[in-house]
Amino acid sequence: MKITFRIQRYNPEVDKEPYFKDYTLDGLEGTYRVLDVLHDIKWKLDGTLTFRRSCAHGMCGSDGMRINGKNTLACSLLLQDIKNIDSGKPVVIEPLPYLPIVKDLVIEMKDFYAKYELVKPYLIAKDAPPEHERLQSHEDAELLMESTKCIMCACCTTSCPSLWSNENYLGPAAFLKSYRFTFDTRDTNPEEHLTAVDSADGIWRCHTIFNCVEACPKDINITWHISQLKKRLVSDEL
Ligand code: SF4
Ligand code: F3S
Ligand code: FES
Repeated sequence: MKITFRIQRYNPEVDKEPYFKDYTLDGLEGTYRVLDVLHDIKWKLDGTLTFRRSCAHGMCGSDGMRINGKNTLACSLLLQDIKNIDSGKPVVIEPLPYLPIVKDLVIEMKDFYAKYELVKPYLIAKDAPPEHERLQSHEDAELLMESTKCIMCACCTTSCPSLWSNENYLGPAAFLKSYRFTFDTRDTNPEEHLTAVDSADGIWRCHTIFNCVEACPKDINITWHISQLKKRLVSDEL
């Protein structure tokens, strides 16, 4: 296959604003990933192209980007899975929306991580430690399983219109992390994770738009987890 990739470029040191540059590659197979294409472009055509990646296997969350208008991981998307890939139209690749661009496809994640830290994303156990480990039943562990698949790629949060209209909105990734610790039966202070999202810029500003669920490359049903947090907040269980 011969495909043109239209990639957003921006170097804040020299460019006034982002612009698109086309790269055409021939001999591509449908089983190539978008990350393979980016590597080909960087290593053979244009060494200045800048993007993040590490594991290349959908585990580290570093290569979230917008491909043909959808937030996803470049390492998890095969060319053959891109809609109308053989239409002759270019594949458009942009950085994740909303967050500031550091360079080309690299976005500034400080704000994303600051909101994540607000929910205290760690176990809080203020009682004395047991002689051995803190035990948890399989059933209780199962309740957390889906939320622990999150790789912090920011595809969900940057796809959310509630964030686009309010920069202080905590966002679905932070809510999911709040769920993961609020509902962990080994945690003795769940209210510390829960009250962090109970604010005007928190969970109540989620209008169940579902963009986050569509964007999540780990297929996490984020809105279900958000609904569990809302239920817990209005219950007497705080
Ligand atoms: Fe990425 Fe999904 Fe985690 Fe959001 S919930 S940060 S989309 S893995
Ligand atoms: Fe946003 Fe997802 Fe809620 S897209 S509004 S966090 S359901
Ligand atoms: Fe690690 Fe894609 S490079 S998730």
